[in-house]
Amino acid sequence: MTKKEVSPAVIQRLPRYYRYLEDLMDQDVERTSSRMLSEIMNLTASQIRQDLNQFGGFGQQGYGYNVKKLHDEIGKILNIDKENCLIIIGAGNLGKALANYDGFRKRGFRICAIFDKDPGLTGKTIGGLEVLSMDRLEDFIKENNIRIAALCIPKEFARDLTDELIRMGISGIWNFAHLDLDVPDGIQVESVHLSESLMRLSYKVGELYHNGDES
Ligand code: NAI
Repeated sequence: MTKKEVSPAVIQRLPRYYRYLEDLMDQDVERTSSRMLSEIMNLTASQIRQDLNQFGGFGQQGYGYNVKKLHDEIGKILNIDKENCLIIIGAGNLGKALANYDGFRKRGFRICAIFDKDPGLTGKTIGGLEVLSMDRLEDFIKENNIRIAALCIPKEFARDLTDELIRMGISGIWNFAHLDLDVPDGIQVESVHLSESLMRLSYKVGELYHNGDES
């Protein structure tokens, strides 16, 4: 398979393809088609063909797609075909929730350690992991070649910590702190803001009412 430059819009959709293909595998479906995927994913069949063709084409005329093969190839593109170790910084409510969620492993991610600056938390166990103190962070990152860190700390500390993490060798920040991070070229940030998603939902629900469904 030849890998061409992939548009950000397609990258945005790939995890969703991956998830649907996973569901099909769970149902022992071996073969699928752009039409079948379009029905379950609410995309057009031509959009799906176009998306998957960006990678040199997975399908075969008249056969469609082998579900497992397509799933595995998308996994390779997403770089989740081998286990990715990530660390969590901040063992508060959110850090605990992430550490306790075991669904990441299914997608190729293992939470390898959780750090917090509060000495009262050091040594406590969360999601089977002992909370480590921040003075162990740098060695841990280097020794375990960690690339991704989840930031689960208050926003006022997030900028300084991001700089530190980058200096220590982190190249991917999964940012939950409510601020936009400026990072140098070559460093990736993926921000997750649940409250922004909720505000978008609120807007849409408000629209329903404004459009006259409010009786
Ligand atoms: P929390 O107060 O329960 O936990 C924060 C933890 O971070 C504490 O244990 C504290 O000791 C630790 N911490 C603070 N500064 C640190 C530093 N410089 N280095 C290492 N550890 C440090 O807070 P919670 O509820 O877990 O939220 C954490 C962050 O995530 C907050 O910024 C919050 O606004 C944000 N958040 C974001 C969400 C989103 O959808 N993006 C959803 C929920 C929370």
